[in-house]
Amino acid sequence: MLQKTVLLLALVVQVLMLENGLLRTPPMGWLAWERFRCNIDCDQDPKNCISERLFMEMADRLAQDGWRDLGYVYLNIDDCWIGERDAKGRLLPDPKRFPHGIAFLADYAHSLGLKLGIYEDMGKMTCMGYPGTTLDKVELDAETFAEWKVDMLKLDGCFSTAKERAEGYPKMAAALNATGRPIAFSCSWPAYEGGLPPKVNYTLIANICNLWRNYDDIQDSWKSVLSILDWFVKHQDILQPVAGPGHWNDPDMVPRWKGRSPAPPSVPSQKPYNHHPVLSSL
Ligand SMILES: *[C@@H]1O[C@H](CO)[C@@H](O)[C@H](O)[C@H]1NC(C)=O
Ligand SMILES: *[C@@H]1O[C@H](CO)[C@@H](O)[C@H](O)[C@H]1NC(C)=O
Repeated sequence: MLQKTVLLLALVVQVLMLENGLLRTPPMGWLAWERFRCNIDCDQDPKNCISERLFMEMADRLAQDGWRDLGYVYLNIDDCWIGERDAKGRLLPDPKRFPHGIAFLADYAHSLGLKLGIYEDMGKMTCMGYPGTTLDKVELDAETFAEWKVDMLKLDGCFSTAKERAEGYPKMAAALNATGRPIAFSCSWPAYEGGLPPKVNYTLIANICNLWRNYDDIQDSWKSVLSILDWFVKHQDILQPVAGPGHWNDPDMVPRWKGRSPAPPSVPSQKPYNHHPVLSSL
């Protein structure tokens, strides 16, 4: 009898999803990419370049304009924050655009009741060509993010092979767990494998990621929103069963306001974008 119980327990453990206690509901917050892209020209465009100034300003907006109190607590950095790796291989932010470092930004976010998300790429380079997380750097980068007190990691998949991704994403999940810091793990992995079985094993993905991008980036157009909706509707029988507390499909963030070209770039209160709380529960 005892043996049987043990066996049963073992089975139960095997089918459990990732349980780091995070993202019991789909994350809500703000991500820099759709609006600010890889604008690193702080000399010509100081208000709109990817810099600590921008993230502090957005943190203020989330906190002061009522977004935080509605649940929009994630302040998420996307690509183009990295400067280089130091002599020991550790990631460093661009020193000119992030002069006080990422730990400072995390403290700032936390002081306002927000959480800080960061971005890296499981590959040689990020999509915009900054140093990526190669397989030998996974643990070091996880430790670095934990030391900085980051709360979420979006791990993109540019410049890698399917084999590297298959090794790297589970490795990062384990490395984040080993840091002891609860860090929500957002994986772009499925999107790089076409988003569907048999190439994508969603049981496995839900075991290692809190959130995963299945499909294309959203753009600032209704056409783009519709094409994403269409894809999710078409494949809902595959996607819906794997979504639940702690593990969500991610159709990308929703541009809440007309974002890029026509919007006055200096009105920050127009910029919050949410993280699809409705879409990801599809
Ligand atoms: C690590 O994984 C274990 C087992 O799933 C879980 O109980 C724990 O909360 C995780 N810790 C972190 C920091 O993610
Ligand atoms: C998918 O991954 C799960 C968990 O790792 C595994 O048990 C299952 O066999 C995999 N399914 C396929 C079709 O490979």
